[in-house]
Amino acid sequence: MAAGLGLEAVGIDVVPAAIAIAQRKAADRGLSARFLVANALELTSLNERFDTVLDCGLFHIFKDDDRLRFVDSLRAVVPAGGRYYMLCFSDLQPGDSGPRRIAKSEIIASFDNAWHIDAIDPAKIDITTSADGVLAWRASITRT
Ligand SMILES: C[S@@+](CC[C@H](N)C(=O)[O-])C[C@H]1O[C@@H](n2cnc3c(N)ncnc32)[C@H](O)[C@@H]1O
Repeated sequence: MAAGLGLEAVGIDVVPAAIAIAQRKAADRGLSARFLVANALELTSLNERFDTVLDCGLFHIFKDDDRLRFVDSLRAVVPAGGRYYMLCFSDLQPGDSGPRRIAKSEIIASFDNAWHIDAIDPAKIDITTSADGVLAWRASITRT
């Protein structure tokens, strides 16, 4: 999406098969995004900085200690004024199948140091297993 808007874009996933699919899709669309097999818990290993980070469905998969590692990892590669936009499963989503649910208060607590939370709004995530999608939080957060 970002490459389609003419932006310099880097996509990462820790699973090589996911990156192979993304590379194929970008090639099919004639886009020049870079895709890397990389661990979001170790973003400094990329030796790059990112003005904007988009996260759909990653934050909510981490257990508590990895969530802290992820936010530290993010903080190290996003300069002051940079933005982090995130979509995660909401605690308002009924049931317990799929990833863990996240409460708004957990997002606020995770980004209480070196970040400013601009907005956390109710949203939906489109998924392949439900026509209605799932209830989510969409967070817009700025690095201070
Ligand atoms: C729920 S999927 C979301 C995929 C995609 N963003 C989407 O919206 O369809 C979560 C993805 O995070 C990847 N992932 C899990 N742990 C990761 C990590 N530590 N670093 C990078 N990617 C990771 C998984 O391999 C998986 O592809």
